[in-house]
Amino acid sequence: MPPASAALQLNKIELSRPAFGGILCRLMQQVNLGMIGGGTVGSGVFHALQQNGNLMAARLGVKLAFRKVAVKAIDEPRPYPITKSLLTTDWQEVVNDPDIHVVIELVGGTGIARTMILSALSKGKTVVTANKALLSAHGPELFAAAARSGANLYYEASVCGGIPIIKSLREGFVANQFSAIYGIVNGTCNYILSRMKQEGAEFADVLADAQKQGYAETPPDLDIDGFDAQHKIGILASLAHGFWVDHHQIHTEGIREISRLDMQFAQQLGYNIKLLGIVKQVGGKKAGIQVSVYPTLIPNSHVLASVNGVFNACFVRGDVVGDTLFYGRGAGKDATASAVLSDVADAALDLRNGGKVRVAPFIAHASKGRVLPMDEIVSRYYVRLSVVDRPGVLAKISAIFAQSKIGISSVIQPEGHEGESVPLILMLHDAPNAAMKKALAKISKLPAVKGKPVMLRVESFT
Ligand code: HSE
Repeated sequence: MPPASAALQLNKIELSRPAFGGILCRLMQQVNLGMIGGGTVGSGVFHALQQNGNLMAARLGVKLAFRKVAVKAIDEPRPYPITKSLLTTDWQEVVNDPDIHVVIELVGGTGIARTMILSALSKGKTVVTANKALLSAHGPELFAAAARSGANLYYEASVCGGIPIIKSLREGFVANQFSAIYGIVNGTCNYILSRMKQEGAEFADVLADAQKQGYAETPPDLDIDGFDAQHKIGILASLAHGFWVDHHQIHTEGIREISRLDMQFAQQLGYNIKLLGIVKQVGGKKAGIQVSVYPTLIPNSHVLASVNGVFNACFVRGDVVGDTLFYGRGAGKDATASAVLSDVADAALDLRNGGKVRVAPFIAHASKGRVLPMDEIVSRYYVRLSVVDRPGVLAKISAIFAQSKIGISSVIQPEGHEGESVPLILMLHDAPNAAMKKALAKISKLPAVKGKPVMLRVESFT
């Protein structure tokens, strides 16, 4: 005989000890939710719970119910309707309601959202957030507040939208040290780069079109200058390595400088260009981790090279599990709602079981963590120069690389007329970023070299 449904069994469970967070719950058959933010993602969360709330209740043994939703304006247009009687324009009503157990923060930004979360935690309420910018700027303060209050702060939706990467790193891979995490974590950049490759188009044209079609924000800076990816990769690095990575330590470059030419030459050499977040363990004398975001040449044979459009992907290498891959939608109301509700489910189980029954959302477990300065990071390089085609130019450039102990692995120079400016593409062997910077500074001063050299890093995933 199949067991009675979990929901029915739950009726018999009497929780005698206080649930964590100071909320006394006797028969915790229902967890009440308050949400701050009822726009695109908020309405997605509301809709998803309407759609699959019964399924979740059966799986969790506890019913989830919205009690209040704070919004900017009651009648603002939203993709899915939210029951009007739940709406308020005062977020404090959500935080102060003693019957609300879990607060979902979907306001975004680093201002009022911080006050909202701190206020909810101080009242012992579990908080679920999608706010990567806030975690990046104030993570240690927020997790310390959560620890003080005994409540949890969950943040699955902050990185890679619907991909359960936080839960996987935290729980699924709890037995692993992470030697490398590579992430395509910004859908806007991936969409733009994919179209540049497919259409042979220039960055500015694709960006303008993406904005017209609503794929890119206006202004797009947070995405295309790499800061959204920086927030996300910082969160992954902190979780994976057990110390909080300050966002100022994350070397970040965006995709503005990528041109159609680079896309074409990369293709000719067997690579694709992706904005890649990298968290890599570096051993030896100067041990530490690389945490960075920059446009990277990825060999076409690597699975991340074929992640296209708005999709996100994370490639995680654990010392026990080996290589793993996650792929999915990194944004959007439904994918993000899926992640928010997975956190709500964890929060509900914490409450039902009267305590923390899982690996805490963030634990600072590393006493000595070090983020390596970019100058110390060793990588391979793609360099595109504009040079005057005349005898001896290549020899001078090679000599500067040789002085800096940087080896050339291949060269492309499309045929041109002598005396004209032509592109010169060089692939270079492993070298520290500091040496590469110095060599390029010298090269750019050669009279035959016109304009600023383009330098992109190449990832071999070894
Ligand atoms: N703007 C982000 C992206 C989604 O393009 O991936 C939210 O972080």
